[in-house]
Amino acid sequence: SLQATFYGHTYENPFMNASGVHCMDTAELDGLATSAAGSFVTKSATAEGRDGNPEPRYVNIELGSINSMGLPNLGLSYYLDDAIKRQTAHPDQPFFLSVASYKGFDEYVANMKAIQDSAYTGLVELNLSCPNVPGKPQMAYDFEDTEKLLTEIFSFYTKPFGVKLPPYFDFMHFDKIAAVLNQFDLKFVNCINSVGNGLYIDDETDTVVIKPKGGFGGIGGEYVKPTALANVRALRQRLNPTIDIIGTGGILTGRDAYEHLLCGASMLQVGTQLYKEGLGVFDRLNTELLAILEAKGYNTIAEFKGKLATL
Ligand code: DHB
Repeated sequence: SLQATFYGHTYENPFMNASGVHCMDTAELDGLATSAAGSFVTKSATAEGRDGNPEPRYVNIELGSINSMGLPNLGLSYYLDDAIKRQTAHPDQPFFLSVASYKGFDEYVANMKAIQDSAYTGLVELNLSCPNVPGKPQMAYDFEDTEKLLTEIFSFYTKPFGVKLPPYFDFMHFDKIAAVLNQFDLKFVNCINSVGNGLYIDDETDTVVIKPKGGFGGIGGEYVKPTALANVRALRQRLNPTIDIIGTGGILTGRDAYEHLLCGASMLQVGTQLYKEGLGVFDRLNTELLAILEAKGYNTIAEFKGKLATL
């Protein structure tokens, strides 16, 4: 079977949406909850609701996607209310509440305080890697600030959470972020968010394809799979074994999913391909991944998870 064990729960399969895709409101979340996905995550919430950046702000391109959404969302209290109702109605179907910040450090802390003070007891994905807020660097590219923020959050927060990371591109950075994260009782890290601030040019019009930030935006899809696999692998090799990894980036096929699992991922998120294909992507990925297990003679994911061969 494709069962995936993650923080004390066994999911039917490891597939989820990646935050930002098909998770803006209760109706979209219900669609995920009743799909073939094993779990799901909500749109990253900020303290107040936001309209986000001007459109066009998400465009499918041949090998992936480019976006600069600007954190459009309905505000933390909306997602928190939805989550509390959902955990009461379906205690056997855990999911992830994504929380971000538009204003920086203090808003991250305030948002986590609001969750701590609420009746929600489930998993939180703390997004330290939104690349699309003009003038605000990604938190997780500042190792000192990340350490300060996690120290502050762990001084009052007692519920399970993990962090969504941006891609890193240097072994020194893999070492540094792992050394920071290993100081804390995080339940997971999610690698990777989009490859930030790429630029795509339309070859007929010689123009950029999204309006915000002069066309610069986060890149997802086929373009990012090698970077995603490297980040999953590098962090699996460096993090405490109690910290699980969610693999995100470039999952279009069962083979892509299998490769993330070989690198050590426990759950798998699909963003660009979910946007392109719709909820049916989860049924297809389950079929394709199961066929790979059967062809290789595996009965469970545990038999090969993290067991990438090297030369
Ligand atoms: C947005 C994009 C991200 O990659 C992210 O992690 C959070 C928000 C956005 O632009 O809305």
